[in-house]
Amino acid sequence: MRIDVVTIFPEFFDVLDISLLGKARQTGLLEVTAHNLREFTHDRHRTVDDTPYGGGAGMVMKPEPWGEALDAILGPDATSAGEEGEIVSSAEAPVVIFPSPAGTVFTQAMARELAQREHLVFGCGRYEGIDQRVFDHTATRAEVRLVSIGDYVLNGGEVAVMAMVEAIGRLIPGVVGNPESLVEESHEDGLLEYPSYTKPAAWRGLEVPPILLSGNHKAIADWRRTQQIERTTRVRPDLLPPDLLPNE
Ligand code: ADE
Repeated sequence: MRIDVVTIFPEFFDVLDISLLGKARQTGLLEVTAHNLREFTHDRHRTVDDTPYGGGAGMVMKPEPWGEALDAILGPDATSAGEEGEIVSSAEAPVVIFPSPAGTVFTQAMARELAQREHLVFGCGRYEGIDQRVFDHTATRAEVRLVSIGDYVLNGGEVAVMAMVEAIGRLIPGVVGNPESLVEESHEDGLLEYPSYTKPAAWRGLEVPPILLSGNHKAIADWRRTQQIERTTRVRPDLLPPDLLPNE
């Protein structure tokens, strides 16, 4: 998979050199490039923002550097060349994702879907956001999504992109050594994961639930499932599938 990130802080993404994703980059499973938006400006101050039309607090990111950065990544813009822009929708067609608290919420299902794509482009906004025309124009040449990682506001899209790249990258076949570990975790079957224990069997007066030491695989699987349902009901009742909702 190829991932391009446009940001005014490309060094943010240096941490992708380490851990499992770093290894995936070394082996070629994942190719990540961070592009500095300021490289696509032409003034002495490398300006990327300006005051908002209509007034208001803060600054808005200017469309021109974004247009040039996206041209460099997606290829020359057919619409400005006077040609009919055609949006191709296939696994090869790039998806351009703008992290935004105003976007649809990122979920494990979205991570799974995006992990199937060959090319993702992330555009990190800062300040009060990006000129709306950048989204509208990009939508004439690629699939565009505004995506939020949760109902809170960050200073910019970089941290949100890091979270999404990690969630998506680990689902690319071969990135996580043991694919079974992906199946048994929170959100994969719509429930939160069960609690885990390792040795020693007793620690600071706390015992591992005896059933886990029983060797009875069926009983262990049943216990884990009950724990998942109990935990999800308590912490995230909104996630419960209809067949597990308590009868009124
Ligand atoms: N940028 C600022 N806040 C954000 C959020 N919650 N999700 C994604 N991008 C953001």
